[in-house]
Amino acid sequence: MTRVIDGNAVAEDVRSDLSACVDSLADADVVPGLATVLVGNDPASETYVSMKQRDCEEMGLNGVHVELEAEASPEELYDTIEDLNADPEIHGYLVQDPVPDHIDYDEVLRRIDPAKDVDGFHPANVGRLVGGNPRFKPCTPHGVQKLLEAAEIDPEGKDVTIVGRSSIVGKPLANLLLQKTDGGNATVTVCHSRTVDMAAKTRGADIVIAAVGVPELVDGSMLSEGAVVIDVGVNRVEADTEKGYELVGDVEYESAEGKASVITPVPGGVGPMTRAMLLYNTVKAAGEQEGVTIDLP
Ligand code: GUN
Repeated sequence: MTRVIDGNAVAEDVRSDLSACVDSLADADVVPGLATVLVGNDPASETYVSMKQRDCEEMGLNGVHVELEAEASPEELYDTIEDLNADPEIHGYLVQDPVPDHIDYDEVLRRIDPAKDVDGFHPANVGRLVGGNPRFKPCTPHGVQKLLEAAEIDPEGKDVTIVGRSSIVGKPLANLLLQKTDGGNATVTVCHSRTVDMAAKTRGADIVIAAVGVPELVDGSMLSEGAVVIDVGVNRVEADTEKGYELVGDVEYESAEGKASVITPVPGGVGPMTRAMLLYNTVKAAGEQEGVTIDLP
């Protein structure tokens, strides 16, 4: 029987553990502050940031949302970043990706104070992750690691194939899983658009993690019997629904379920974990910046 990991339930456990940290910070008169910055009006991004703000509200965090028009100049965004870097009530913030084409996202990342970079995307934080001393683990990779831990799947000694080499998921996740530490010690293969015979790499894996942003790219024929399948993809595809679309993962669930021993659904798998780990990083940032010791889960 295939075991379906309930990401909502695991995320709820993380949030409940984090609540104790939020209480400890409150005892020291500290309310963790998280700002989200959105440039333009990409519908998916709007949904993501509004969910992040709702999470803040539910956890008793100080959520601040800054919206800039799609035509905003890079300098306007840099000013916003400077303000957030200097704001003592904001312990962490993120600029939602993608930004409009006339803005260089790498330059944006370089301007974020690394101590407030709760995405973990600043080059200094990327360097620390690769070096094995992460300050903030990027939220989706950290969420995948927590999901595996909650499902009692230890990557140690396992062959893991990650499909997708993005800076947000694939690359940091590969680094996390190969680290010589709990939750790591895997042998990691990363597939991408130039990979020859991707199916051979996924079939050879104990754990397949799809994070490529291509609807249902990985199907059951590409999996070995009993594989663990983690689907990071959230793709809107046209459908005859009220909204005109439905969400599907990077894994073709029907065929994969027949082969997998463990699988994550879309929605309700990795997505809720990403949001929970953003709260985690914000609480961590608040503790560090305010000099309050907290017992993070
Ligand atoms: N766009 C999609 N995922 C993310 C994320 O985790 N952080 C930011 N800043 N933008 C994103």
